[in-house]
Amino acid sequence: MFRRLGWLVLYSLAVLLLSCLLFLKEAKPAGGPTARQPYWAPPGPRRSHCPPNHTVANASLSLPGRHRLFLTYRHCRNFSVLLEPSGCAKDTFLLLAIKSQPGHVERRAAIRSTWGRAGEWARGRQLKLVFLLGVAGPVPPAQLLAYESREFDDILQWDFAEDFFNLTLKELHLQRWVAAACPQAHFMLKGDDDVFVHVPNVLEFLDGWDPAQDLLVGDVIRQALPNRNTKVKYFIPPSMYRARHYPPYAGGGGYVMSRATVQRLHAAVEQAELFPIDDVFVGMCLRKLGVSPMHHAGFKTFGIRRPLDPLDPCLYKGLLLVHRLSPLEMWTMWALVTDEELKCAAAPLSQLRGVG
Ligand SMILES: *[C@@H]1O[C@H](CO)[C@@H](O)[C@H](O)[C@H]1NC(C)=O
Ligand SMILES: *[C@@H]1O[C@H](CO)[C@@H](O)[C@H](O)[C@H]1NC(C)=O
Ligand SMILES: *[C@@H]1O[C@H](CO)[C@@H](O)[C@H](O)[C@H]1NC(C)=O
Ligand SMILES: *[C@@H]1O[C@H](CO)[C@@H](O)[C@H](O)[C@H]1NC(C)=O
Repeated sequence: MFRRLGWLVLYSLAVLLLSCLLFLKEAKPAGGPTARQPYWAPPGPRRSHCPPNHTVANASLSLPGRHRLFLTYRHCRNFSVLLEPSGCAKDTFLLLAIKSQPGHVERRAAIRSTWGRAGEWARGRQLKLVFLLGVAGPVPPAQLLAYESREFDDILQWDFAEDFFNLTLKELHLQRWVAAACPQAHFMLKGDDDVFVHVPNVLEFLDGWDPAQDLLVGDVIRQALPNRNTKVKYFIPPSMYRARHYPPYAGGGGYVMSRATVQRLHAAVEQAELFPIDDVFVGMCLRKLGVSPMHHAGFKTFGIRRPLDPLDPCLYKGLLLVHRLSPLEMWTMWALVTDEELKCAAAPLSQLRGVG
């Protein structure tokens, strides 16, 4: 109880400090050779223009609004970049491509200062952290996003609406960006902004793999049935997907791909018709390519289930990736896994190594 309280205080202090830093930085006079365009007000011509397909809209009147919207704009596949980080260094080993949203400022802050950090934690390997964003609402102030982009050089934002059904557009545009700005990265981890990635364990796992060979590893779901209940977020009517099962796919919370698979996937994604559920969409493309996703028990994309204790540091020491952590839990986990004093009775990594 007191321990938790302690963490809360520590976290609040950290947030306060960050806010102060933000304020100080913003107070600096603008300008200088590195000053960029004010991205928060993209001029008219830059905005992507794609008219809706009314024939499709009229033909899908019986579907829920979101599905109808998706189908009406499904042919729109070219959106401009609003904010972009610099490209990858020559020796980039692992590209961390994290799906975020403009409003998730605290999640990005937590990732940057915990597992997304370079240095000893990354065993000296070159990492590249990039947050993938669409456009959403009036929150937060767009100036903050522009500031994050300048200060951390990790914001990749496109001019399409932030929506669950537009995550496939994120996949498509990420593929294009990687091909142009980061084709050399040996591996790419794609995940959500509420995952904790145990970078050393991921690197240790990847040591055994050749980036020129196909690899997609994660929490693989097989024989999943399309949800036919109109009330559910994941509802897919037979008119959008007819087959009984989805192809095997890795849960979208987080998975890792080799350079070879990223390259081949890019070609497949460009050719495929968009499907609203992004991880299933990737599974469909993999099937076309003849690549089978590989399951690894270290990817916990559904979080930690009882009877395992989510705050047992030894547990995290053996994992590659855990989904659904708040920023507070992210900081807590970081403190636990980086604690040199901590001794675990067993070596969980070896037990979790099982691949099948
Ligand atoms: C709209 O969709 C229909 C049905 O898919 C297609 O035949 C038609 O060419 C599309 N129209 C435009 C303008 O894209
Ligand atoms: C779609 O339906 C609206 C309203 O019924 C109609 O005005 C419009 O012409 C229809 N558009 C197409 C392309 O069928
Ligand atoms: C998107 O861009 C590509 C290449 O520039 C082009 O071939 C394609 O027609 C465009 N698609 C749409 C819907 O604008
Ligand atoms: C996806 O983004 C486009 C472009 O902003 C938008 O027109 C469309 O409505 C979005 N799709 C959904 C399902 O929200």
